[in-house]
Amino acid sequence: EKGTYPHYMLKEIDEQPLVVRRIIQEYQNEAGELEINADILEAMNEADRIYIIAAGTSYHAGLVGKHFIEKMAQIPVEVHVSSEFGYNMPLLSEKPLFIFITQSGETADSRAVLVHIKELGYNALTITNVAGSTLSREADYTLLLHAGPEIAVASTKAYTAQMAVLAILADVTARSKGLMQNLDLVKELGIVANGMEVLCDAKEEMEEIAWQYLTTTRNAFFIGRGLDYFVGLEGSLKLKEISYIQAEGFAGGELKHGTIALIEDGTPVIALATQEHVNLSIRGNVKEVAARGANPCIISMKGLEADDDRYVIPVVNELLSPLVSVIPLQLISYYAALHRDCDVDKPRNLAKSVTVE
Ligand code: F6R
Repeated sequence: EKGTYPHYMLKEIDEQPLVVRRIIQEYQNEAGELEINADILEAMNEADRIYIIAAGTSYHAGLVGKHFIEKMAQIPVEVHVSSEFGYNMPLLSEKPLFIFITQSGETADSRAVLVHIKELGYNALTITNVAGSTLSREADYTLLLHAGPEIAVASTKAYTAQMAVLAILADVTARSKGLMQNLDLVKELGIVANGMEVLCDAKEEMEEIAWQYLTTTRNAFFIGRGLDYFVGLEGSLKLKEISYIQAEGFAGGELKHGTIALIEDGTPVIALATQEHVNLSIRGNVKEVAARGANPCIISMKGLEADDDRYVIPVVNELLSPLVSVIPLQLISYYAALHRDCDVDKPRNLAKSVTVE
């Protein structure tokens, strides 16, 4: 139940630090080390390529998951939108492993791919929040998100839980391969949970940002580079689905290839700056849009901040920054929807699980 919260979405946003801590516990053995079921590890180690299949927010988690698995475990990964996989099926490698990411475990588009690849004789791992769901039952292996029921149509805690579980999967696989990891994931995820808490306490600031940038606008843009680009895609999906503001997330470098034509006086551009190696270039993009009249809102990470940043998130490991930097975007979307009198938990035309193709 939503208790004292006005909406499930706000409750679920607030649950994120707790969910990350619960995930650490669930995947920890008695010695305090992260552990993954041995069959899953074997499947990961045998795979010469991983194909992540997902839709919507889960697809956005998959984009970050690819980065984790490739960086940590050094296995090539492709990420595919489930509804397109059938038409644009990639040439498969010799030993593919399929990973289905799905909060509900019931998404018909993803299930169709699962049925197809099982017919071809390939192995599948489902990462889901719902034990006993269709995609869990029909796959060879399951990893649970332990996020608790997600009721709001707009996915929040499932997204961060998916990324946390993918990080654990990548880290444990890497260690089993003897690849040296220079990050202590339990410790870093603890820091992430603390950072999330700081952001959950920053609701007033987020409401102010929503008020300042999004109350009357027709459209909004999210820009970022590297991992920030993927979080921007998720931020734009959140905003459009609950506030009905036309929103687009794109890579900072793509601005000059077309989108910059849309920038008008006052167009809100939310830029993420949490990645050191692209900090200067994303700030360059902000200057370009500001020069054309945009209203930029920079959300940066401590240590990389500049004077006119609108909000600075606490420091976390750069690789894990999406788990924290998405929270301001979730909250800004929530308040934008609220200010625009939208039905936050049940946006028009949308269902919580999409069981038709
Ligand atoms: C967005 C949202 C949808 C789902 C998508 C996949 O907030 O909720 O985009 O992420 O329909 O659903 P699952 O993860 O249940 O397969």
